[in-house]
Amino acid sequence: MERSILITGGAGFIGSHVVRLFVTKYPQYRIVNLDKLTYAGNLENLKDIETLPNYEFVKADICDYARMLQIFTDYRVDGVIHLAAESHVDRSITDPFSFAQTNVMGTLSLLQAAKESWKGNMEGKLFYHVSTDEVYGSLENEGFFYESTPYDPQSPYSASKASSDHFVRAYGNTFKLPFVITNCSNNYGPNQFPEKLIPLFINNIKNNKPLPVYGKGENVRDWLYVVDHARAIDTVFHGGKNGETYNIGGFNEWKNIDLIRVVCRVMDEKLGRPAGTSEQLIAYVTDRAGHDLRYAIDAHKIMNELGWQPSLQFEEGISKTVDWYLENQQWLERVTSGDYQKYYNKMYGGI
Ligand code: NAD
Ligand code: DAU
Repeated sequence: MERSILITGGAGFIGSHVVRLFVTKYPQYRIVNLDKLTYAGNLENLKDIETLPNYEFVKADICDYARMLQIFTDYRVDGVIHLAAESHVDRSITDPFSFAQTNVMGTLSLLQAAKESWKGNMEGKLFYHVSTDEVYGSLENEGFFYESTPYDPQSPYSASKASSDHFVRAYGNTFKLPFVITNCSNNYGPNQFPEKLIPLFINNIKNNKPLPVYGKGENVRDWLYVVDHARAIDTVFHGGKNGETYNIGGFNEWKNIDLIRVVCRVMDEKLGRPAGTSEQLIAYVTDRAGHDLRYAIDAHKIMNELGWQPSLQFEEGISKTVDWYLENQQWLERVTSGDYQKYYNKMYGGI
């Protein structure tokens, strides 16, 4: 095999799209998917590629340093794409410790394993850290996040991601570990766990359940189709410069309430319900604590320097996403059974 790449969090939402892209596009690479399979990890996401000869799955916790070191040796890992994380802001408000543990200590454990395994020969090695635009804080109505924007994380989730980004840069500076970091905006698409806005609302509309809009629904997010994020990761993995940061986004800002109306309209069309039916499910609820007002990514650097462009318009992306959830009822039913119900009742039991 030409390369041996460890992808962490590959059973999750974005990770599964990255694994699929790399396994199918690069048969000459060995792709090792390392995942702890938390509530958010689901090997069903990779059913279509799991028997390909260049794919392997390892169930492990990134916080287990000894195990990470062994995996680097066993698989002769020369590249890491690190996506494993606790990723939901609401959960970070109720359980911040697990975010510090996985996102900070887990990243540190992987960095140390990479440094120890690669010491004396960093040539051709790369630690690619997948981060978020939330590390930059919250914007008012104007302006963008640039790669030079100072960090100002506002939630336990974004604080843990910011901390992990700092550790990656510190390993680059102190130990000369080759690295790149990307900070991406909100992703949507197939296989996203229905705790995040879009799949939660698709599932609730399907089941005629209320749509819990936080506050007045005026917060703004910049949405990117997940396959375009995976393509961007491929672009940066192969063309990014050592030590650089690249912002990734779709120049596709939506106020939550406007986006929700689009999801409602598309659902009405696909389910053959009269126009306006789903909107009646909208229920304004207590705002998220410390809710960031607006995120907006300036993605010119990756576009101009590396030639990446988003491939899908939002309307097409939402249509494909809704189709996927409607065609994959079993996937939805399986992930929303058991513990999901407990989480749902705790978060939204009042409506
Ligand atoms: P996700 O929650 O869907 O998946 C996370 C994956 O990590 C799961 O498969 C889970 O089992 C695994 N995992 C969690 N803890 C682990 C541990 N200790 N050891 C090994 N595996 C573990 O997350 P996602 O939305 O796919 O996000 C992936 C990455 O991208 C995260 O680092 C996140 O911060 C970042 N990101 C996400 C978005 C987004 O909109 N979802 C945007 C920008 C950046
Ligand atoms: O910006 C990138 C980030 O996007 C990623 O780093 C995170 O991992 C990812 O979860 C996402 O964070 P958000 O908090 O922006 O995503 P979420 O889908 O949870 O919420 C999107 C917006 O919708 C946000 O303003 C909160 C609002 N919302 C969310 C939920 C779950 C609601 O109004 N009601 C809800 O029930």
